Amino acid sequence: MAPSLDALEHEALAALAQADTSAALQAWHGKYFGTKRAKGELERAMSAIASLSPAERPAFGRRANEVKQALAAAFEAKQAAVKEAELEAAMKAGALDVTLPGATIPRGRLHPSTLTLRRIIAIFARMGFEVYRSPEVETDEMNFGLLNMPPEHPARDMWDTFYTTQPGVLLRTHTSPGQIRVMRERSANGAQPIRVILPGMVYRYEQVTARSEMQFNQVEGLAIGRTITFADLKGVMAEFARHMFGSDTRIRFRCSYFPFTEPSVEVDVYWGLATERDRMITKGTGWLEIAGAGMVHPTVLRNGGYDPAEWSGFAFGMGPERQAMRLLGISDIRYFWQNDLRFLEQF
Ligand code: PHE
Repeated sequence: MAPSLDALEHEALAALAQADTSAALQAWHGKYFGTKRAKGELERAMSAIASLSPAERPAFGRRANEVKQALAAAFEAKQAAVKEAELEAAMKAGALDVTLPGATIPRGRLHPSTLTLRRIIAIFARMGFEVYRSPEVETDEMNFGLLNMPPEHPARDMWDTFYTTQPGVLLRTHTSPGQIRVMRERSANGAQPIRVILPGMVYRYEQVTARSEMQFNQVEGLAIGRTITFADLKGVMAEFARHMFGSDTRIRFRCSYFPFTEPSVEVDVYWGLATERDRMITKGTGWLEIAGAGMVHPTVLRNGGYDPAEWSGFAFGMGPERQAMRLLGISDIRYFWQNDLRFLEQF
């Protein structure tokens, strides 16, 4: 039965035994298994099945598969042997210098700001805060007006701003406009409680120094509910500081002023005063400011669609780069955006 298959197998194996170079192997493979352009001998032999009687077909098909598998296995074994032999020959001929160092594959890593942001996000996630994204290009109304700073309000001087040539459009100076965006979204179909953080880049037109950059990240936090008090804000800030900086971290709240919170505070973490650098970073106090915060101002609640008679909330805005400086021992905030690999590769 089907002697042509046996003959084909025999012939192919004999030819394979003669193929002792990669090129010869490739030619062999093309001849029997076919190439993109031409059918192989195997396929051609198999097409003989069409001329067989139905009774003969199964046995022929089985045998054809056997031959195909046997040839494929023999090819693989021979190919491995030839490769090894060729490599050995190349090494003997000195064409391959195995002592040459390999080409290094450049491997990326996360920016220290990203690392810090991820830590902050993870800590707040455990306290039930979700991440909400808000745009970096904002309107004057969102960045100032709806946050209780109408045009000409003196508090606008706290944020030096990059305006665009389009009237009323600017680069946001803080993540606080995101508060209005979340509140409006969550109150559109009846007011809902809110617990979000808003991480992202902010921009300020100001003198760049070791402590201040003209661009940096902020993480805004906003919690709105029916029974939220200042105690909740203190608890969340203290819990955050302990997870971020260690369980024995000391924090303090200082009275402050923001037009969109009332009362307002600054949150400080104790850094220490051991070295001249500590003195510089903390302006001689030993304390590092990590956030501005407070209870959401009734006007802001109203602008977001929440009735201040029913709802209250707290908000905070923190600077992850300042915190990264403390955690990673970075002495100058200007390193963050200089794209100097000698700095970035340390993290
Ligand atoms: N937006 C303020 C800033 O950039 C920080 C802040 C946020 C203060 C939320 C209070 C509440 O300085």
